Amino acid sequence: MGCNIAIDGPAGAGKSTIAKRVAKELSFIYVDTGAMYRAVALYLLRNEIDGTDAEAVAGNCQSAEVSIRYENGEQVVILNGENVNQYIRTEEVGNMASKTSANPAVRAHLLNLQRNLAAKNDVVMDGRDIGTVVLPDAQVKIYLTASVETRAKRRYDEYLAKGESADLEEIKKDIENRDHQDMTREISPLRQAEDAVLVDSSLMNIDEVVAAILGIYKDKV
Ligand code: C5P
Repeated sequence: MGCNIAIDGPAGAGKSTIAKRVAKELSFIYVDTGAMYRAVALYLLRNEIDGTDAEAVAGNCQSAEVSIRYENGEQVVILNGENVNQYIRTEEVGNMASKTSANPAVRAHLLNLQRNLAAKNDVVMDGRDIGTVVLPDAQVKIYLTASVETRAKRRYDEYLAKGESADLEEIKKDIENRDHQDMTREISPLRQAEDAVLVDSSLMNIDEVVAAILGIYKDKV
C-alpha cells in the first residue's frame, strides 16, 4: 500500500484546495473522490434519471464508467471515454451527487477505483468517507471543517472570481442541505473517524491549514 492521507469533511471546507497543496508538497497524487461522484451524477442527469428513484439510480449507475488520469498535475475525470471536468462543477451536479451518492450501488461502483489508486500510489485522497470506509488504514486522517457561514462565503467568492453571479443565502441553504444529506444518510455518512485529527479552518488561511496538516503528517510518519 502507498502512503495514504485521508481528508474528509463537509462541502466547502476547502478540502480540494488543501489536499492538492499537501499532495504537491509531498509529491503524492491528489485524488478527488467527490469528482467521481459528480461524474456519476452527471451521467444520471444526462440520462434524465430521477435522483430520488433508488432503483433507477442503482440500475443505471453501472453504465457510468469512471476513471481518472492526470494532465499537468491536474486530475481529469473520464466518464465513458469523455473528459467531463468542465461539466461537473455546477451546483446542479453537486446536488445530484449528494442525492445519488447515498445509493449503495453508486458507492460500491466507485470503491474499487478509489482503493486501487491508494494501493498503488502515495495519495492524498479527499471525500466524505475516506478515513471511515474507503481507507480505514490510512496513515494520516484529517477531518477538515469550517463554519457554515465561512464555507458559504468562500463558495460565493469563488463564483464571483469566476465572473459568475451568485446568491449568498442560496449557497448557504445548499450547503446546509448537503451537510444534512451527507451526515444523515444510512450508508457511509460523513463523520469524523475516531482516529482522525480535527482541523477547523474557519479562522485559518490556506497556508496555515496546509502547514498544520504537513505537521500532523510529519508527527505520524
Ligand atoms: O466534495 P464534492 O462537493 O465534490 O462532492 C459532491 C458530493 O459527492 C458530496 O455532497 C457527497 O454527497 C458525495 N461524496 C461522497 N463521498 C465522497 C465524496 C463525495 O458521498 N467520498
